[in-house]
Amino acid sequence: MLTPIITPAHRDDSRALAALARRLIEIDLAPVWTEQRFERARHHPDHLILIARSGRTRLGFAAMEYRDEGAHLNLLAVEPSYQRRGIGRALLEQLAAAASAGGATCLRLEVRAANLGAQAFYRAAGFQDSGRRMDYYRLGEDALCFLRPLNMPTASRR
Ligand SMILES: CC(C)(COP(=O)(O)OP(=O)(O)OC[C@H]1O[C@@H](n2cnc3c(N)ncnc32)[C@H](O)[C@@H]1OP(=O)(O)O)[C@@H](O)C(=O)NCCC(=O)NCCS
Repeated sequence: MLTPIITPAHRDDSRALAALARRLIEIDLAPVWTEQRFERARHHPDHLILIARSGRTRLGFAAMEYRDEGAHLNLLAVEPSYQRRGIGRALLEQLAAAASAGGATCLRLEVRAANLGAQAFYRAAGFQDSGRRMDYYRLGEDALCFLRPLNMPTASRR
């Protein structure tokens, strides 16, 4: 059985995280989450980057940022061969708990309009649709906005 360990990202992770972000999230987009950006975020007190591992294998990661309007989920991805095993949800719940402990009242994110799998994942995790940003991504793709209030029970959470 797979028992992932989730920890904050280490210095050695930043290059691999940039590669993962490019391969799994920034598809057809200009890469903005570079190794240097991960390193800066890792040291910034308003950011939290978590990694799920099994042994030396990186299974997935998530990155969150505290903003005035609440916490914002910047990135979340799980290696395709490890998806649908609860790793995305585990990463998300750890970030939500950290955001809540840090005083945030909600967790927000944007997801690409064409990314129906991720939208289903966020809805199953208690997120509500909170708007649409037209032409948010390169080549004119819209973003759907999602929000989850924190410190409130959500019926569909595992
Ligand atoms: C979105 C993502 C992070 C989900 O990670 P995951 O580890 O596979 O998700 P989980 O196993 O924790 O899923 C929890 C629940 O969410 C829902 N869900 C997850 N992926 C789904 C999909 N593709 N379609 C429909 N529902 C989905 C299901 O209800 C699932 O529970 P179940 O497997 O018992 O049915 C993963 O698919 C991924 O990395 N996608 C590519 C990157 C990406 O799109 N990131 C999000 C935008 S930043």
